[in-house]
Formats: sequence, structure tokens, C-alpha cells
Amino acid sequence: MANISEIPEGKGKIVDLGGTKAAVHNSGGSPKAFSTVCTHLGCEVEWNDGESTWDCPCHGSRYNVDGSVKQGPARRPLDPLDVTVEGG
Ligand code: FES
Repeated sequence: MANISEIPEGKGKIVDLGGTKAAVHNSGGSPKAFSTVCTHLGCEVEWNDGESTWDCPCHGSRYNVDGSVKQGPARRPLDPLDVTVEGG
């Protein structure tokens, strides 16, 4: 299990949660995790550190750190995932 607590505050990272890839953003110490699968046609989103967004390299969709769509062609938000923060 990935240690989500090692993601710096305000940053995002793709982590492997026991075989499931998750796009995790550390929002004030509480992680927000989403499926990495773009809701447009299924490419994998990447963290954009400059803009603090999840960007899809395939057709340019962009998502906010709460998973909502910032820019299409995607119309649906990223699917949320449940994560547990590991201490230490
Ligand atoms: Fe992500 Fe098309 S698959 S924008």
C-alpha cells in the first residue's frame, strides 16, 4: 500500500493502491483520491504541478483537484476512490 502521507501538502501524485492506480491530491493533510482514468476516452491523467490540475495527455481534458472538469472534451468528473491515510 502506498504511503499517501508522503505527498507534500498541495501536491498531487499517481500512486499504486494495491494494484489500482489512483490520482491523489493532498488537500490540507486530507487526501483526495480519484481514478486515473480520464472520463473522456480512458487515457491516464497526469499531475500538472504548475497549474495544480490533473491533465489528460490524449485530448487535453483537465480536471481540478476536487475531480471536477476544468476543461473538456471530458464532461464527467473523475471517479472518486476511497483511501486511508497511513500514519508516519
Ligand atoms: Fe482524456 Fe480524451 S481520453 S481527453
